[in-house]
Amino acid sequence: MSIIFSEKDKTFILHTKNTTYQMQVDSYGFLLHLYYGRRTEGCMDYLLSYADRGFSGNPYDAGQDRTYSMDVLPQELPCQGTGDYRSPAIIVKNADSSYGCDFRYRDHRILPGKYQLPGLPAVYADPDQGESLEILMEDPVTHVEVTLFYGVLPDLDIITRSASIRNGGGEKIYLEKAQAACLDWLYGDYDLISFYGRHAMERNVQRIPVAHGAHVLGSRRGTSSHQYNPMMILADHEATEEAGSCYAMSFVYSGGFKGEVEKDQFNQTRALLGLSDELFSYPLDSGEVFYVPEVVLTYSSQGLSRLSHNLHRCFRLHLCRGKYKDCPRPILLNSWEASYFDFSGASIYELARQAADLGIEMLVMDDGWFGKRDDDNSGLGDWFVNEEKLGEPLGSLIEKINGLGLKFGIWFEPESINEDSQLYKEHPDWVLSLPGRNPVRARNQLVLDFSRPEVVDHIFREVCKVLDQGNIEYIKWDMNRSLSDCYSRNTKDQGRVLHDYVLGLYDFLERLVQCYPHILLEGCSGGGGRFDAGMLYYTPQIWCSDNTDALDRVRIQYGTSFGYPVSAVGSHVSAVPNHQTGRVTPLRTRGITAMAGTFGYELDPASLMDVEREQIRAQIREYKQYESLIRNGLYYRLTNPFQEEAGAWEFVAEDALEVLVGIVVQEVHGNMTVTYIRLKGLPEGRFYKEQQSGRVFASEALMEAGIPLPEQTGEYRAYQLYFKSV
Ligand code: GLA
Repeated sequence: MSIIFSEKDKTFILHTKNTTYQMQVDSYGFLLHLYYGRRTEGCMDYLLSYADRGFSGNPYDAGQDRTYSMDVLPQELPCQGTGDYRSPAIIVKNADSSYGCDFRYRDHRILPGKYQLPGLPAVYADPDQGESLEILMEDPVTHVEVTLFYGVLPDLDIITRSASIRNGGGEKIYLEKAQAACLDWLYGDYDLISFYGRHAMERNVQRIPVAHGAHVLGSRRGTSSHQYNPMMILADHEATEEAGSCYAMSFVYSGGFKGEVEKDQFNQTRALLGLSDELFSYPLDSGEVFYVPEVVLTYSSQGLSRLSHNLHRCFRLHLCRGKYKDCPRPILLNSWEASYFDFSGASIYELARQAADLGIEMLVMDDGWFGKRDDDNSGLGDWFVNEEKLGEPLGSLIEKINGLGLKFGIWFEPESINEDSQLYKEHPDWVLSLPGRNPVRARNQLVLDFSRPEVVDHIFREVCKVLDQGNIEYIKWDMNRSLSDCYSRNTKDQGRVLHDYVLGLYDFLERLVQCYPHILLEGCSGGGGRFDAGMLYYTPQIWCSDNTDALDRVRIQYGTSFGYPVSAVGSHVSAVPNHQTGRVTPLRTRGITAMAGTFGYELDPASLMDVEREQIRAQIREYKQYESLIRNGLYYRLTNPFQEEAGAWEFVAEDALEVLVGIVVQEVHGNMTVTYIRLKGLPEGRFYKEQQSGRVFASEALMEAGIPLPEQTGEYRAYQLYFKSV
């Protein structure tokens, strides 16, 4: 049993293999947070201390007791209105326009398995893999109810948090803020590790000490964004990859979000993660329920590698779904960087022929096959095949490609529309745009109002008509702009539109997954602009970045690896000079970098030399040999490529019988110093044979002393070392 309720001290204890989470219903009915960290036993309420704190008010029912204040106590559900002046998880605007709520414990239940959230992605687990706790809190005045959900996956050291808010009163209220998870620490100094970036340079790593005041990150773009990833880590200053305490919070949501970390007047730290509260004012009529998307929590007392492993396992095994969850993904050739918009059916077939000759398994026809779409100024919204451009019906092209032994995949951008399209002529009111104003254009396109079911239904029907034309086995779901002009013609309550948009997106994706279970979905948003746990519920892989430069990818994939498994990271070998940076890197380097992801190509094989084609054949053979180790192995960051000369990473099989190391040397200088790479995660007392040299090393030697990289000149060299336990 991983969830225990101790009647005696009204304490909830959530145990995982290595962690414990505790909270207590106090004598006033508030739900206080007691502890989250390394596994422990016994009630932890002795940690709380009480003192008369000036300017920290007291709940009325505490009477003359001036030592009891919500401004000081650690809480599970901090909300505006109880005298807590730190940032709240929930703000309610009541029917009488007053702000404020005061939730007290009413009931709870413990259920087998992991709770699910209607219309939202969520971690799942069978009854033998997890348990759920629901705690019902109620505001005795307004009768607004909050049910706090806790999902516990003991073997994975994962705890999830979510909530539902029900308007139990008679009149309409508004939810003004809804965060899924709050973590309060009574003391301690932490670093905040977050992941920032921009288009084509996503998920750089920032590590800063948490200081007084609040550090806020998030997205007001309607998507999770390239700029900040919806995931954050709180770590001890001393925490490293192998040692030290750290906590991760990852939001299972693909829209706007807000993460806050605040150090308060008593040096206590609060971290909150959930929905963005900007442009958010969600109406709830009497009896209506709002579900807050969930946050995945994990704790590691053994540093950041373990923290990442916990998240990787959870997302790979308990969030991703479908046919491709547990099996090798096809090695694909994507047409985008090979030919952009400039293709015909014949040239796509030729790409496929070349791909087949190299051992590639799937051809993906990217943007440009539909409507009037020869550049990015027109056609979005018109999801009918441009047979004139293809020179034949889609079905026959697919058949021919299948005839080569290749699967066929296709690109869509269902949420977007160009003004220069038939759809826009027919339904100009289907876009998000402010009344009387011209909308903001981005990539010359607008956004369809996916908060409206009839819009979602229409696009779904059109997409299905295409999918039914042939044996399509893969979809790249793209979204190439941020939302703006957030106004829907469907509602008077504009504060619901951004969230309803995401619900519309999820509804579409869920229908797609149900109707076409054999299709592999790859998420994409101008590369990694929607690389989040929410999307992984529908799309087990996501195009990591529009930047395919191997050197930049080493850094982007490094940052991505903190929160997401390698099986989710779309990564391709592209041509040189690289189209985004102009850099020339060796084909081997591009291959080794792309192998730290779902491997594929994004170039025109016809433009390669024979020797390069031969190299690609060998690369594909190599990848297939390592594929299972890469997908299922434990991923270790061996260096920090932002600070060290080499970027290096490692996959260790769960049974530690096989190890694969990837290394990219980022710099070259005269009279180079020698770089040593130290391995991680190997059991003591074992010996490993490096397969190329045949040399045998003790696991301690590999981990403590490391191995020197050969002295070689040449820019951006890369190495792949494969070890087997002997
Ligand atoms: C986005 C994607 C690219 C490509 C183009 C097509 O930028 O990230 O991979 O699909 O759109 O327009």
